[in-house]
Amino acid sequence: MKNNHDNLPPHLDLEKVIVSREQIAQRIVALADELTRFYQGKELTIVMVLTGALIFVSDLVRKINLKLHIEPVSISSYPGKSTATQGCEFRLPPSGRIAGRHVLIVDDIYDSGKTMEFLEDALRQAGAADVHSCVLLRKQRADLPDRPSEVHFVGFDIPDEFVVGYGLDFDDLYRNLPDVGVLVEHAR
Ligand code: IMP
Ligand code: MG
Repeated sequence: MKNNHDNLPPHLDLEKVIVSREQIAQRIVALADELTRFYQGKELTIVMVLTGALIFVSDLVRKINLKLHIEPVSISSYPGKSTATQGCEFRLPPSGRIAGRHVLIVDDIYDSGKTMEFLEDALRQAGAADVHSCVLLRKQRADLPDRPSEVHFVGFDIPDEFVVGYGLDFDDLYRNLPDVGVLVEHAR
């Protein structure tokens, strides 16, 4: 059924679309397939990084054919002048059902890698049987050749631009856009 948005641009505040809803939907099927095979015979615990991964996780899990748990966490990162003073902490830690589990961290985007590094360490310390990571987007960062930790499952590699949509925000807005794109100048 056609809806009344069909003849409008993707969104008034988007300058360009980087990854379209159709590309996302298609890639999620392939990713979910890969995950279903990778974790075959195991029970999976998906650690969902709020709020950015909310939409990605909700689409992804419905395509995964495994028994799985969803464990929401929230991380706040504090900026610092040096890398030593930068860091992450839990705003919402995992509820405790991590020990002995096969854990897959799912986040919206891998940028500096700090969030992923922090979470992997924390989940290993919490006794996870194994910890892997999955992101919808991985940003190319030529300035950071030695980003910490690798990502095991990646939806799309994107250029080093600030993007919003499909869960990603600017000032907590635009998470609801169905496509991932770059904001027009006046909205930034
Ligand atoms: P990292 O710790 O630098 O890898 O950053 C990961 C977090 O930064 C993600 O969970 C996002 O919340 C945020 N982030 C990084 N790049 C973007 C972007 O282009 N748009 C929106 N959020 C971003
Ligand atoms: Mg985030």
